[in-house]
Amino acid sequence: MGRGPQVGAAPASLDPADWSAFRAEAHAALDRALERLEHVAEGPVWRPTPAAVQARFAAPLPTGPRDLSDVLADVDALVAPYVVGNTHPRFMGWAHGAGTPVGVVAELVAAALDANCGGRDHVGPIVERQVARWAAQAFGLPEASSGVFVTGASQANFLGLLVARDAALGHAVRREGLRGQGAQLCAYASAEAHGCVRQAMELAGVGAGFLRQIETDADGAMRPAELQAAILRDRAAGLAPFLIVGAAGGVNFGAFDDLAALADIAAAERLWLHVDGAFGALTTLAPSLKPLTRGLERADSVAFDFHKWAHVPYDAGFLLVRDRAVHKATFAATAAYLSRLPRGLAAGDDWPCDYGPDLSRGFRALKVWLTFQTLGADAIGRAIEANCAAARRLAERVRASDVFELAAPAPLNIVCFSLKRDREGALNAELVMRLQERGLAAPSTTRIGGRLVIRAAIFNHRTTEADVDAVFDAAAQIAAELGAATG
Ligand SMILES: Cc1ncc(COP(=O)(O)O)c(C=O)c1O
Repeated sequence: MGRGPQVGAAPASLDPADWSAFRAEAHAALDRALERLEHVAEGPVWRPTPAAVQARFAAPLPTGPRDLSDVLADVDALVAPYVVGNTHPRFMGWAHGAGTPVGVVAELVAAALDANCGGRDHVGPIVERQVARWAAQAFGLPEASSGVFVTGASQANFLGLLVARDAALGHAVRREGLRGQGAQLCAYASAEAHGCVRQAMELAGVGAGFLRQIETDADGAMRPAELQAAILRDRAAGLAPFLIVGAAGGVNFGAFDDLAALADIAAAERLWLHVDGAFGALTTLAPSLKPLTRGLERADSVAFDFHKWAHVPYDAGFLLVRDRAVHKATFAATAAYLSRLPRGLAAGDDWPCDYGPDLSRGFRALKVWLTFQTLGADAIGRAIEANCAAARRLAERVRASDVFELAAPAPLNIVCFSLKRDREGALNAELVMRLQERGLAAPSTTRIGGRLVIRAAIFNHRTTEADVDAVFDAAAQIAAELGAATG
């Protein structure tokens, strides 16, 4: 195998001296990657990274070349076995997508093209606009809505909040800051809202103290009457309500706000309706789940991730905005080096960098385009439905158990449950750690009503009902070891 940079005709080039040897090595690496994915279910879900492996990543900066085959052998031995594990069908923690073999190919192709998709007149931004149109179609927003890729829904929610802030105050806020813009802004989200909404208030300079987290009903949905009352209270106190953040799939157990009711209030009160649909917005691809998102089509902006329930490889967050002009005016900036020209590579009014703060950015749109072209939206919708069916099975097993009890509603794909006799949740935590350490399963934990509970979020298209049973049986076995198995 040829070594890295070669001395010769093109001494500074980083390309291989022997392309055909390199190609063989690259093909073998791809084969091993696909092999791992095909057989992922046969290994442990997760294993800790041993100290000896960690020590290998404390090495000094390599100054000379090394054979690619050697370095790839390191990847096989030191990296691949110790990743987070979300491709495994018994990974049920947090809200992680599972990737697809098509996504592997897409990343590979995109890496070889190495397109900087911040701007300029090339096909990258065109594909990104195609994806925005698909999202608008799926959610029922106008086809002319603008969209932009970001790392994830945390960023997309932050950018959505900035657009709402500009819509409320006018774009002079970009120059003048929040001081002197009149009354203090305040926003509204459910008590179940993801922490990134609070953080977005901090980062935007509005202040987390002005996020009103509205009480929820038994299903985890924001109570519209409480929302309305809070808005009136704030207005009476001289504050300036500007934004309602609705949830399409809450992080704890998948609660949906009544988006149509929120849209009515937003329209009557002239507020911006932003929806955090990090994973739940894509339930619009699943016909049986579509009623959950009624009202989404009235949102002013939607934040969501293709890397969650569409299984596009990390990362692929997205912000969709109904009013393209407001979106653009929130971020677009003039700089001599970004000047547009009538023709050539610098042509075009609509560069992705006009719709967010990122300038250099990769070709995320290609992996989304390739995934949807190859698999089709219907198959992704069916995989979402299958996850929800698997979650219903897990919830049934919990309900039928003497040992465990449900800790929250399970309307979608997330089942929060607890050992019956574990008031604080210390045994739940121990149970989750043992499941993970033994590589049997990887649920995560959350707190419901102050109690730490087991949280199984089924986002993986590889998860079968047999996996659900295996996870439940393993949890029951550990409950017995902990002496918590008697009702
Ligand atoms: C409801 C909700 N909002 C926002 C986020 C943040 O998304 P990301 O991790 O892609 O930044 C998550 C992550 O799970 C989520 O579940």
